[in-house]
Amino acid sequence: MSAATAPTAPSLRREFEAVFGYPPDDCFRAPGRVNLIGEHTDYNNGFVLPIAIDRAVHVAIGRRPQGRSEPHEHGTAAPPRRQESIRIVSDHRDESGERLAGQFAAEELVPGALPSWLSHPAGVVDEIAKTTGTIVGGIDLYIESTVPVGAGLSSSHALEVAVLIALDEIFGLGLDDREKALLTQRAENDFVGAPTGIVDQAASIMTEAGHALFLDCRDLRTRQIPFDLEAEGLRLLVIDTRVSHSHSESGYGDRRRTCEEAARILGTASLRELDESLDLGPLNEEQKKRVRHVFSENARVRATVELLEGGGDESRSIRGIGELLLASHDSLVHDYEVSCTELDTAVAAAMSAGAIGARMTGGGFGGSAIALVDTASVDQVGEAIRATFADHGFRRPDIFAVSPGKGAGRIA
Ligand code: GLA
Repeated sequence: MSAATAPTAPSLRREFEAVFGYPPDDCFRAPGRVNLIGEHTDYNNGFVLPIAIDRAVHVAIGRRPQGRSEPHEHGTAAPPRRQESIRIVSDHRDESGERLAGQFAAEELVPGALPSWLSHPAGVVDEIAKTTGTIVGGIDLYIESTVPVGAGLSSSHALEVAVLIALDEIFGLGLDDREKALLTQRAENDFVGAPTGIVDQAASIMTEAGHALFLDCRDLRTRQIPFDLEAEGLRLLVIDTRVSHSHSESGYGDRRRTCEEAARILGTASLRELDESLDLGPLNEEQKKRVRHVFSENARVRATVELLEGGGDESRSIRGIGELLLASHDSLVHDYEVSCTELDTAVAAAMSAGAIGARMTGGGFGGSAIALVDTASVDQVGEAIRATFADHGFRRPDIFAVSPGKGAGRIA
C-alpha cells in the first residue's frame, strides 16, 4: 500500500520561503474525495454521499511585500516577479524534473490559454472577480498535494478549493461554504471548460471528519452521516487503476447532455424529479438507460444513508451497504456505461477475494474503484487485485486505504 505523508505548516512555510524569499502569511488544506455512492447524480439535481479523504492539496499563501528585491530562488523554477501577478509553484515536477511553476494576472485571464494545471487556480481567480468584484493580485502560492492526479479522487477540485479558501481569507471575501462550492464549480465549468457537477467541491468544503456527507444537489442541503470504519473493523480501499481520465473529454459531457435532453423530453426540470410512475416511452433506448441509472442511483443513496443511520445490528451498518455498492457499479457498467475493463476487473477481483462491496468511484472512464473490506483481509484483497491486474497485463494498480477526514481549512 502506498502511503502519503501530509506536509505540516512549518514545512510548507520553509518551502514557500525558499521559493519566494519571504515568509508566507498562512497555510491551508483542501481534501480530495471518494464518493461512496451517488454517481452522476449531482448534475441531475440528485443525491450524493462522498467522504473527504485523508489526502489533500496544501497551500502556503503570501502577499508579496512591496518594494522588495527579487527573491533568491534556490534553483527552483519560480518565474520572474511582477507586482500584481499571482505566482504559483507546485511540488509536482514536469518531465524535465523542474517544479511546475507559472504566473498570471487576474485582468488578463483567457480560458484555454494556460497550461491545464494552472487553469484551475486561474479559474478561481477569474470567478472571484466576476462574483465579488475583487481583483486578486500581488500574491504567491506554494502548493503540495498528496492527492494522486488523474486517479478520479478530485485532485483538481481540491486544488481549486485550497486556492479559494486561501484567497477568501487573505482578501477577506467572506464567502460561506455554499458560495465557495458554487464558485469553484463555476470556475471548473466556465473557465476550465469541464461540465462537472458539485459533489467534489462540496465534499472538500463541507464534510466533517469521521462522516460522510449526504448532499442534496438541488438545494445543497447537507446531513453529516457518521462513518466509523474502525468501529466496525473495516477499511475502505482505493484501487487507482492508473488509467487516467479527464472530464473535459467527451464521455462525461455526453452523459450530461443526454440526461438534460431526457429531462426536457419528459417535461421535468431535472431527472431528480422523476418517480416510479413516469412513462419513459418518449425516450430512445440510450436515454432510457441513462435515466434508469440516475433514478435507481438516487434510491441507492437514500437506502445507504438509511443503513448507515440505522446503527446497531450487522445489516444496518457500514457492513450492510455492500450490496448497494455492487448494484451501483452494475448500473454504471450497464445503464450509464462509464466503467472500463480495469475498473470492472478491480471490482470483480476485490469481491472474489472477500470484499464486502466494491464499485467504481468518480466520473469513470478510468480512475479509481473502492472496496469495503474487513481489516483482516486488506492484504489479501490488495494482493488478489494486483495479481489479477498482472495476469491481464494491466499497469500495476496503486492500492491504499483511506479514512473519512475533515473538510478544507487552515493548517496551524
Ligand atoms: C466527476 C465530477 C462530479 C460528478 C462525478 C460523477 O467526479 O467532477 O461532479 O459528476 O464525476 O458522479
